[in-house]
Amino acid sequence: MSADQQKQAAGEAAAALVEAGMVVGLGTGSTAAWFVKALAARNPGVTCVATSAATAALAQGLGLKIAELGETREIDLTVDGADEIGPGLSLIKGGGAALLREKLVWEASKRCVVIADAAKRVAVLGAFPLPIEVVPFGHKTTALRICDALVENDIGVAPRLRMRAGAPVLTDNGNYIYDAACGAIAEPAAVAFALKSVTGVVDHGLFLDLADLALIGGPDGVSRLEP
Ligand code: 5RP
Repeated sequence: MSADQQKQAAGEAAAALVEAGMVVGLGTGSTAAWFVKALAARNPGVTCVATSAATAALAQGLGLKIAELGETREIDLTVDGADEIGPGLSLIKGGGAALLREKLVWEASKRCVVIADAAKRVAVLGAFPLPIEVVPFGHKTTALRICDALVENDIGVAPRLRMRAGAPVLTDNGNYIYDAACGAIAEPAAVAFALKSVTGVVDHGLFLDLADLALIGGPDGVSRLEP
């Protein structure tokens, strides 16, 4: 089973969790896209809140109704991918630069389900570079302060500005992304706190104590993991 087939299986398993009348949060990325497609096929009447312009466009193209965050009653269920899934369903997200809207939607949801292929599971978070969303004004100064915050947590790495075609990647919010190749994040909660304390950092890709369930596609089908 290829990674993409595993993502598809996880997305389809998550779509089976959606009931009529639910408000559903839609994640961003290739795995979340499988969920959106399966949802549109199974349950086209639900109202959805998207975590990115790309996901909103995909969902609307498939006939799903999109509402803004805060314009619906509470979100019943959000389904989203991840870049790494560590112990206790701690996550690194933001490989697709949507981490801020993703976290806003996750935090507004009654239940959050992460879907992924088996390669996303790790014993320790940090091999995947940690995305950090930063306001453009003074971003080089902010990057130095991020570096200091990481060093205080025994992570000696300089975050790198994410570039595409010679220009900084812009998030849907008009911000930049710095990626910190931490290697291993021994204390994710401490790192999360330190990064949020840096003025100029809007948010980071550590999603801690947010996922209620993981559906992981693998060679033997989809397995369920709880925190
Ligand atoms: C986007 C994300 C994605 O969920 C994450 O990057 C996983 O992507 P994919 O499902 O394509 O592997 O956090 O910001």
